Order: sequence, then C-alpha cells, then structure tokens
Amino acid sequence: MQVPSYAKINWSLRIVRKREDGYHDIDTIFQTISLADTLTFERADRFALTCSDRTVPVDERNLVAKAARALGVDRVAIHIEKRIPAGGGLGGGSSNAAVTLMTLSKMFSIDAPLDRIALQLGSDVPFFLVGGRAHGTGRGEILTPLPDIDPVPLLLVMPRERVSTREAFQLVKIGGNANNDFEEPIFAKHPRLREYKQRLLDAGATFAAMSGSGSTIFGVFADDATRDAARATFGDVRTETATTVGRA
Ligand code: C5P
Repeated sequence: MQVPSYAKINWSLRIVRKREDGYHDIDTIFQTISLADTLTFERADRFALTCSDRTVPVDERNLVAKAARALGVDRVAIHIEKRIPAGGGLGGGSSNAAVTLMTLSKMFSIDAPLDRIALQLGSDVPFFLVGGRAHGTGRGEILTPLPDIDPVPLLLVMPRERVSTREAFQLVKIGGNANNDFEEPIFAKHPRLREYKQRLLDAGATFAAMSGSGSTIFGVFADDATRDAARATFGDVRTETATTVGRA
C-alpha cells in the first residue's frame, strides 16, 4: 500500500515561553503542502525499513521505526521515498511518523490513542494526524482545525544549511514581534537565508517567511506563472514548487 506523506509550512510561529519541562510553548499556524514523501507498507515476516535517501538513518532513530514500535507492529516492510529534505523545517520525519501511525493502526486493526503516541514521538507529529490548516499551541499539539483556503502557489527555497530544532530553540529570544521568532537568530547564524527571503520578495512573492526552525524559506505567489518565473532566478540553490493542501 502506497501513502503520500505531506510536508508542512508554518504561516506564523511565535515562541511564547520556556516551560519547566524544557520544551517551549509556541503559537503557530500549520499548513499542509503538496510536497510529499511516499511511504510503502507491505506485510512481512519481520520489521524492515528502507529509504531512498542514504543519509537518512533507517535504524531505531527513525521516527517511522519508533512509530511502528509504539504500536507493537513488527511484521511490516516500510519504504520511504524521500523528497522532503531533513532538517528543513518542513516536518518530513514528523509527517512520516504520523502516516505510519495512521496506516499501521488501520492495517493491523490496532485501537491505540494515536494523538498521545504522536506527541511522544515529536511535537509536530500530532499536527500531521489533523492536516490542512490548523492553529497549534502548547508544544504544537493543542490543535484547532481552521477552514481550508484555496490552493496557494508556493516556491520553496531549500538551502544546504541544516538547522537542528533543538539548537534553534536555544538561540531564540522570547518576546519579539516577528512573524516567525526563529528567523532572527537563524538568519544571524546563516546570513544567506535572509538573502533568499529578500530574493523571493524581489521576484514577486506577496509574502515570504522561514518555515518552522528552518532552513526552508517559502514564498507565496499570486499565480503559477509568477512563481515559475521566480524559480528561474534561483539557479544557485535547490527549489521546489508546491501548493497548499486542504484537510484529507
Ligand atoms: O518534540 P521534538 O522532539 O521534535 O523537539 C526537538 C527539540 O526541540 C526538543 O528536545 C526541545 O529541545 C525543542 N523543542 C522545544 N519546544 C517545542 C518543541 C521542541 O523546546 N515546543
């Protein structure tokens, strides 16, 4: 069985406070986008996990393996066809984990509290059980679904720079007034990212921002033609086109 595993962007992301448990309360608007990995699930004699991207670990560190283990499933072969870059702020690993929880619980008729397991796997995983556009508070797991919007053309600029979410939270100052509180500290560390954001705006984006803790910078365009013309000006860095996607 083949299942798409969609990426997300954050329309906005504020860091509200540092908590006693070491995590931060955030206030964010998540949005599913069309960029997706493909996960293939097949019954097997034992657990096996493979990935098209050799740089992605396929051992117990992989959130897909953790998700299967959390459900007690060990007779499945899973393959990840990767298109969402790791460390890019697009929630690729979290999305893969949520898809694994949803698919395996159906495939093996397991009645488990998926939202609680999802949060144990990672702060962004619960969103991917909901999808579409949603307001997230707490660690991002207190979710309010928002009405879908018409598909919006997006250009994703995916720099080589990779950002560790944990380190990004350590760098962030609380109480700014940016659209994404991670932008200032991450742009200070990786000045090229600020330039990509400006170049998106110069190329006609009506809005541009970093997604999550980066490093992906996305631009919003009025139409596909403007977006595609903008893409042609980014020969020096990986880009992908995408659109927003509504709730399944
Ligand atoms: O939840 P997840 O494992 O994805 O988080 C990775 C790291 O990012 C956490 O260990 C924590 O340091 C930081 N984090 C945080 N507040 C959040 C989410 C993540 O401080 N809401």
